[in-house]
Amino acid sequence: MNFELKTLDLIGAAQDKCDALIVLVTQSFKPGKDALAQLVGEALKAGDLETKPGKMLQLYRSPATVAPRAVLVGAGDGSARQVRLAVQAAVSAVKSGQVRRMTVCFAGAGAEVSGAAVRAAVLAAADASYVYTATKPSAEGRKITRVLLGVPHAAAATLGFEQGVAEVAGTELTKEWANRPANHATPARLADAAKALGKLPRVKCEVLGPKEVVRLGMGAFMAVAQGSQEPLRFIVLKYEGAAKSLAPVVLVGKGISFDTGGISIKPASEMDEMKFDMCGAASVLGVFRALAELRPALNVVGLIASCENMPDGRAVKPGDVVTSMNGQTIEVLNTDAEGRLVLCDALAYAERFKPRAVIDIATLTGACIVALGSVRSGMFSSDDALAAALLAAGESALDPCWRMPLDDEYAEGLKTNFADVANVAGRAGGAITAAKFLQRFSSRFAWAHLDIAGTAWKGGAAKGATARPVGLLLAYLLGQVEKVAAVPVKSARSVPKKVAKPV
Ligand code: BES
Ligand code: MN
Ligand code: ZN
Repeated sequence: MNFELKTLDLIGAAQDKCDALIVLVTQSFKPGKDALAQLVGEALKAGDLETKPGKMLQLYRSPATVAPRAVLVGAGDGSARQVRLAVQAAVSAVKSGQVRRMTVCFAGAGAEVSGAAVRAAVLAAADASYVYTATKPSAEGRKITRVLLGVPHAAAATLGFEQGVAEVAGTELTKEWANRPANHATPARLADAAKALGKLPRVKCEVLGPKEVVRLGMGAFMAVAQGSQEPLRFIVLKYEGAAKSLAPVVLVGKGISFDTGGISIKPASEMDEMKFDMCGAASVLGVFRALAELRPALNVVGLIASCENMPDGRAVKPGDVVTSMNGQTIEVLNTDAEGRLVLCDALAYAERFKPRAVIDIATLTGACIVALGSVRSGMFSSDDALAAALLAAGESALDPCWRMPLDDEYAEGLKTNFADVANVAGRAGGAITAAKFLQRFSSRFAWAHLDIAGTAWKGGAAKGATARPVGLLLAYLLGQVEKVAAVPVKSARSVPKKVAKPV
């Protein structure tokens, strides 16, 4: 999708030759003399339109607009959150095969339009009009090709706009891969997608296969992969935006391309949704896509452990004991608790980068959905500063998380007579015991774990990936730019395009 930013008042918006015009009307709206403004004013007065976010009045071939379709939509106080609601509602209402070019006008939003509100509008327009076509090419005709954002002062909105556009490039890549069925998004194809990112400026990609992973001694990762005909891939992405001496942030994505549960097999209902078990990996790909666009002065490493979890004659069995890369032995009591097995080896691998912080992102537990539903991702961290930064990033990006506990008492159930640790504890506190397992492999760096089981995709009629937590992660990373800028560096490897600050 192409986005454009332009200075546009309501008179200009009324003249715009698009297929659908969306007019955001905030509570500070003041009716002017032109026909469209008068119409908005009258509709508000009559009670046919409200400024409550998402309240709409749809027009067809109105003499007040050149566009054949127009939606007047309440945008509340004009904050990022309420603008997002408004744009979501309006775009969902107008999207059809007829609309290719759309204009979103902030003219009714008062003189001040924050960068955050513009970013939110860009993201919401992209999100609401996203169409999956990889295995459904017939849906191609429903795609919106161009969105024009009309704001009172384009110059003041540029930063928020550019950040939003870069983020959309990332979220669309994340959705694209997360939505693909498991026979189209195999570990090998995910690795190819990562290699394609490696062609972008400042991005490098290296892919390891089964042989290399054996040599590294990633016994836990290999145990999960051994029941599948699809060979595993371990993907290493690097974004190099600052001097080599600057310690990187490492993102670790769970990339189970399909999770049957293995020998501890899952029930049939909704098992198809386990194609989304690589959403953590897909979010890492999306973040790198956006980084290549924004070019912040940072170093970031992305690690993806990708394989299928299948039942087979050679599959790992309940009770099997495997040895992780850092030498800890693990009793696999439940083969469906596979995410932590692939992540523990990736976390051990992360150590070699001497990272500032390591954040793993995983559709890890059904228990996290029970705890937090689909509003907030679960966040666990052994480092208070990192936890605070992730919480704040989630709020500012409207992609929130919630900190969960890591008391040592929660690890009691992971004790076993047959290995250093078991891969499951009891049913109680399942999201936390999973995090306690991962924490054993994260003692050498500041670590956080995001359990996105409830937030990464939607089920039901709107089934599809959400691209969360790409927004949270990007906001966190851009927030680090200012912090690392305070650290003197000898030679910047490449000059950043601009100082990318979160809006
Ligand atoms: N990928 C699942 C977690 C999941 C389940 C995410 C449903 C979203 C929806 C994970 O690999 C898993 O199966 N976890 C088990 C852990 C249990 C065996 C301790 C779970 O949550 O049931
Ligand atoms: Mn599982
Ligand atoms: Zn899983």
